[in-house]
Amino acid sequence: SDFSVFRISQNAEELAASFGGYFVEIASKAIEKQGSFTLAISGGSVLQYFSKAILETAGRRELVDWEKTFIFLVDERYVPWDDPQSNYGQLRKFLRSSGIEHKVKVFPVNTSLSLEEAASSYEQDILSRQNEQDFIKVLHQPVKYQVEAVPAFDLILLGLGEDGHTASLFPNKELLGETKKLVGYERNSPKPPLERITLTLPTINHAKNVAFIVVGKGKAEIMQRLCEDHSVQYPARLVVPIFTRKEWFVDEDAMSQVAAAQ
Ligand code: 6PG
Repeated sequence: SDFSVFRISQNAEELAASFGGYFVEIASKAIEKQGSFTLAISGGSVLQYFSKAILETAGRRELVDWEKTFIFLVDERYVPWDDPQSNYGQLRKFLRSSGIEHKVKVFPVNTSLSLEEAASSYEQDILSRQNEQDFIKVLHQPVKYQVEAVPAFDLILLGLGEDGHTASLFPNKELLGETKKLVGYERNSPKPPLERITLTLPTINHAKNVAFIVVGKGKAEIMQRLCEDHSVQYPARLVVPIFTRKEWFVDEDAMSQVAAAQ
């Protein structure tokens, strides 16, 4: 539904507690129900907040059964894994320093392939989890996109770039019109690096839960434009989950220019 819920925190600790509670509940329920928890996580500041709120917080980290957790990347920069810009590299670093690297199964994007092959091979990685209970759903009557089989991620964690991008979906780009592929690629991203691989709207919008993390004064202007300027097609607005609502974990700084939040 196009329904958004905003959880506005006053500071970083409050945000970590609010997001932490939400995350642990989704993970626990998924594991209780189907024996696994499948997450897709964005890079950049989203990954940092995730690490702070969950991985680095003793007392919360232990509430997640990491051995039953599977992590995909929402998007990846087309760079080698050991490049500081690699989202996979960053995630591994956080998992390692939290001591849970050996427990979690992480699915990296194979950036040693061509850009196009890297995207299609990531799509295969997703689809190959069809034996995982309830993960791949075959759609006899697709609701919104021309996809026959879609993954049901338990949670997809998104961000909002200062230029209005979400995942590696940028305003006014062709990729926003993708209706068939689960994973796409961008050759000419407005934000470096130019080449990126990303989950598409058909994938994101079939998730069971979708949450955004948007924090800090630097995000105030784009947050305002997203909420008030309807002349631009912001990807975050095209995130309209079919089975759930959008949850926004934000702070007062990020909301400081949104009229409705005052
Ligand atoms: C990336 C990220 C991207 C991120 C947004 C917001 O690789 O660029 O995955 O999708 O979520 O850019 O992050 P920032 O707050 O760091 O801009």
